Amino acid sequence: MTKLPLASFLAVLACLMPGCHAAAAPDPLAPTGRWSANTRGQAPTPPMGWNSWNAFGAAVDETKLMASARLLVDSGLAAKGYRYVDIDDGWWLKRRMPDGRMLVRTTNFPSAATADGGTSLRPLTDRLHAMGLKAGIYSDIGRNNCSQVFGGADAPNLPEGTQAERETGLYGHVEQDIALYFREWNFDLIKVDGCGIRGLGPDNPRVKAGLYRPLGPVIDFDDLPRTDIAEVRRLYGAVADALARTRPAGDYVLSLCLWGSADVRSWGKDIGNMSRTSEDISPTWARLLHNLDTTARRALYAHPGSWNDPDMLFIGKGEFDAAHMVEARSHLALWAMLNAPLLIGMDLRQATPDQIALLGWSQAIALNQDRAGNQAVLAYDSAEVQIYVKTLADGTKAVALLNRSAAPTHATLTAEHAKLTGTIATTDLWTGKTGSFTGETTVPLAPHETVLLKLLGRHRLANGLYLSEMPGSVNPAVDGVVQPQPDPLVHRGLLPWNDTRGAGEHPRYGGWGGAAVDSGPYGQQLQAGHEKLDTGIGILAGSRMEVRNAGHARFTARVGVDDAAWGNSGAVTFLVYGDGRLLAQSAPLRAGHALVPLAADVRGVHLIELVARPTTASVAPDPVVWGEAALLN
Ligand code: GLA
Repeated sequence: MTKLPLASFLAVLACLMPGCHAAAAPDPLAPTGRWSANTRGQAPTPPMGWNSWNAFGAAVDETKLMASARLLVDSGLAAKGYRYVDIDDGWWLKRRMPDGRMLVRTTNFPSAATADGGTSLRPLTDRLHAMGLKAGIYSDIGRNNCSQVFGGADAPNLPEGTQAERETGLYGHVEQDIALYFREWNFDLIKVDGCGIRGLGPDNPRVKAGLYRPLGPVIDFDDLPRTDIAEVRRLYGAVADALARTRPAGDYVLSLCLWGSADVRSWGKDIGNMSRTSEDISPTWARLLHNLDTTARRALYAHPGSWNDPDMLFIGKGEFDAAHMVEARSHLALWAMLNAPLLIGMDLRQATPDQIALLGWSQAIALNQDRAGNQAVLAYDSAEVQIYVKTLADGTKAVALLNRSAAPTHATLTAEHAKLTGTIATTDLWTGKTGSFTGETTVPLAPHETVLLKLLGRHRLANGLYLSEMPGSVNPAVDGVVQPQPDPLVHRGLLPWNDTRGAGEHPRYGGWGGAAVDSGPYGQQLQAGHEKLDTGIGILAGSRMEVRNAGHARFTARVGVDDAAWGNSGAVTFLVYGDGRLLAQSAPLRAGHALVPLAADVRGVHLIELVARPTTASVAPDPVVWGEAALLN
């Protein structure tokens, strides 16, 4: 295994960035005293609303959009939080030349026609705002959009005109377009897709035919090492900066749509308010499992202001239609637990009263919108049954028991799963049925059913919280992953638009080796010095985590190098900082060494940083354990 002295390794890493000066290479493990996950924009809880894509594809128009907007209000769903009405692909006509101003297709959006022969979506956003709603628009980070790149020749509403006029994406027009959409047209949200930097390399047949200019590809979806991750990040960062300048009050949402490519898992949380973790969902159970899996193990990568996005709801279609209400309920329950943005994707004119009631399921919405922002964590995992646990701001627990299979089964829920003890009161959040158990309880599960329970009991940790109970306040600012690799644990559902052509989907979403709750970074049980632990944070050596402290007095953990280590990192020193000052530090620890207690007084400290500093940098750093890491009163 390659081993480099730490200083030169960090210098090499830093010099992969543009403008590198070897002598001044910054130390990524140095404390900053700052929470670095995104807090710009306006998403303290996951955005909720409606988006045109799953309902209408690119065949979106003003009548369809306003009908669903009206129904959001009239059905009471808007009052329950579904406020964003988002136009997806298909709204544009062309980019006017030579001034580059974007024009709207007025045959589909008649209210956009202006007296001077131009177009403006301001009348539309004014109407939405007057209804108490918010308005979202859609663009691409490249020169061209997804329908142009991946749509068939018969795709509706493709941009028209010359090659330059058909360049509707943000590339080269960031300032101009963001000013138009957010200052002039007054939108509140933008979804920025990535097709234009993914699919239009010089070999693309449409490029060869002269339809579009070549660009990149900057993203190679199937090959992480061939993706220019820093460039993708730079392009999206420029959009985030333009938004912050255009809307200094911060009243906007930036939605990143990179489908888990370009290792967006590790940096999307620093730039956007929500970030897609996978390819598009489609209305099949297999794709739901696929999208779910891309988000399920990333609880530490989502926080108030920056949410994981497993894609929009498909309730109302296919295997989530009116004949599949069990699956539809699972969809909403799981998305709520994962703090996914809740974006309805159906034509609300077709919605049955039962579907409206499901979308308006107040208890599920309350979990999703809980202000602590803790994404549910996987407490039990298998291909058949999963148990997710979410700690709410008031200390109560929500549990989802999911039957992924098509056969009836059951789940045995234990007090340990929820980190509770004693007698535990339960409420079924769908039926309202109450009960209680001590130790464990068995819950029957119909095929594809998710049972959502609220649990009230004594916390196993009486005088504080384990960090694994508060992932929304823990940010792996540097997670130690040196070479991003696809996560192999994602269910590889059949992709309906490919059917079984080719060999099927290979693991493609970076994330393997990322920081994990109650497990090692590669899914193994936490274990150091031959001692197994059932709680703690597993992360790689060469990492720095930021922890928000809202009034706790003491940090404690038992730390060590995980027994799964190969010894590549040499010894690892564990350091605890408070608002940038060193508070505690372990001796250098090697694999096999017993866990070592580490504690620090954090009274008055706002930001704690947990650093695992290796003596030897490696392309394959060792897993380390912040065992039983907790904040105590
Ligand atoms: C991509 C996105 C979808 C949708 C379409 C529009 O595939 O992932 O959510 O926006 O583009 O063409």
